[in-house]
Amino acid sequence: MSPDGIPQERIPVEVHADAAAGCATLARAIAELVRSRQAAGKPCVLGLATGSTPVPLYRELIRLHREEGLSFAHVTTFNLDEYHGLPEGHPQSYRVFMHEQFFRHVDFQPGANHLPDVSGPRDAIHGACLAYERAIREAGGIDLQVLGIGRTGHIGFNEPGSAPDSRTRLVTLDRLTRSDAARDFLGETNVPRHAVTMGVGTILEARRIVLLAWGHRKASVVARAVEEPPTDALPASLLQRHGDVRFVVDGAAAVELTRVRRPWLSGASVAWTPRTLRRAVCWLALRARRPVLKLLDEHYAEGGLADLLTQAGPAYDLNIRVFNEVQHTITGWPGGKPGADDRVRPERALPHPRRVLVLSPEPADCITGMGGTIERLVAQGHAVTVAALTSGNLAVSDEEAALAAGLVIDIAETLGEDGAEAWLGRRIQHLLTLRHERYDDSPEVRRMKGMIRRNEFRAALRQAGVAPSCVRFLQLPFYENGRYRQFRPGDADVDAVVALLAELAPHSVFVTGRGVDPASVAGSTWSVVARALERSPAPPDGPRSVWLYAASDHAWEPGEADMVVPLSPGELARRSEAIYQVRSQRSQTPLPAGAESAEPWKAAHDRDCALAGGYDALGLAEYAALEGFVRLAPDDPA
Ligand code: F6R
Repeated sequence: MSPDGIPQERIPVEVHADAAAGCATLARAIAELVRSRQAAGKPCVLGLATGSTPVPLYRELIRLHREEGLSFAHVTTFNLDEYHGLPEGHPQSYRVFMHEQFFRHVDFQPGANHLPDVSGPRDAIHGACLAYERAIREAGGIDLQVLGIGRTGHIGFNEPGSAPDSRTRLVTLDRLTRSDAARDFLGETNVPRHAVTMGVGTILEARRIVLLAWGHRKASVVARAVEEPPTDALPASLLQRHGDVRFVVDGAAAVELTRVRRPWLSGASVAWTPRTLRRAVCWLALRARRPVLKLLDEHYAEGGLADLLTQAGPAYDLNIRVFNEVQHTITGWPGGKPGADDRVRPERALPHPRRVLVLSPEPADCITGMGGTIERLVAQGHAVTVAALTSGNLAVSDEEAALAAGLVIDIAETLGEDGAEAWLGRRIQHLLTLRHERYDDSPEVRRMKGMIRRNEFRAALRQAGVAPSCVRFLQLPFYENGRYRQFRPGDADVDAVVALLAELAPHSVFVTGRGVDPASVAGSTWSVVARALERSPAPPDGPRSVWLYAASDHAWEPGEADMVVPLSPGELARRSEAIYQVRSQRSQTPLPAGAESAEPWKAAHDRDCALAGGYDALGLAEYAALEGFVRLAPDDPA
């Protein structure tokens, strides 16, 4: 905090347009370091991380190697960490990951790439950790350490509680960290419980440190690490003790920094846009615990908004303006209200009924994001098509697939048939028993898992009134051919969405995924949809609105949403039931007593009740829940 109580950034943060831009800058810096070391005849030592975050960095370094002759022949690397207890060659081991994502594509010398040695028995680990530290020292220490950050604030696998002087050691993984890794391992139960990681002290000895973070899921932990005093409870904040550290983030991971979220508090002069003004006044009302219409000049002055007051005040005028704007975001007619004066409504009255396309990254994401709105759109007579962009089959546990395979066998036997169906069921059951030797799903298992998600989705949509004939399954190739953290959306994916847009010519499109981790499914589908929308003209019989609904781990603030659709208690309960139909996405392990529920229906319920609570606190109407949407204007950055 500065003396006036405004949080300061204690670590320099570079904000880039997207992960690719941030990685291009860092890759150039690494290339310079590598070349200057080589020119001076000195070794170069890089500290590397795994996870989705550095993947675009490795792709860029590989490009520099191939296209600009960057050589790694004189570079030694040390990775931060490795899971403990995985068999050698496991595709989720960090050794395999690094080999596939980086090492094998460039010209490292044999033996130049080090990862913590987890191969020996558990009582040999300590010795191996000491040897790892020694090897780093003998290599001359790390010149540049690349880091990601976990949602717990971990760096490497230094979970909260790790001491600033901790060294390479065996650690127990946090529950949140294990649940974040669940999808990589096809279920949380398969995620190792332990890992070996460099310590915070080991990391702090690197001469230079760069931490990368993308997507809004990381925004709050980034802001805390940078703006709050250093504490063991948030290991990334301990980086504040280093003299040459910086964070490289994209716009979404920067949104919780005070200078971005509350620019009026940062001391810099603010370029007031209507959107910033609305957010500032709503923030002020919530902070002062007063309805918007009761804010006084002194509240503006005390809240750091004196400048706004001078430019657009007095308080009375600002209050009325923002109250009306926020009031006008509320509508029970998300497809427009026929016959109504639509000048201040979020959606135009005509055409009515309209063609509506709801795009869901995985089946069911659209129900958690906007299930109540889908129900309304259908009830109000619009032609609603819901399209699942991917099959979502990677997110189904083996247990679910085994259950479905068992049903197939039983049905076949009941019908007295021992033909193809029973054979398929038995084959899937057999393949599932091979998990210890085969870690990726075979095509048959993936197909069965996809069927599970299809049927769950149809069941959930039935609840919202969407007929099975109005549900599409795109199965975009980047997902069907890919693995988590390794998706590479391409032209074939964009073409498929362009074709759907051309066929349906929707007047309203609902999408999600802007600002989420670009390596995630929703982040990948967003990049595809954004490109497809650019390529697709508006329908011939009217303009096109594009609305962003909340991603599963994201919420709009009151003042941020351009349209909110109220849910009655009954509608809210129906939506929760619909989400609950999606059995394969419920938590797979019972939560410890007292732990916060992570169930999808509950997360969606809490998010939308909180938005309604915000509207209530602003002095607007009191609803059970609100589904929020942000308008995607043609000039909005993708
Ligand atoms: C990886 C590592 C971890 C990750 C962190 C973020 O070697 O040490 O600290 O950097 O868990 O993971 P992603 O990038 O997958 O979000």
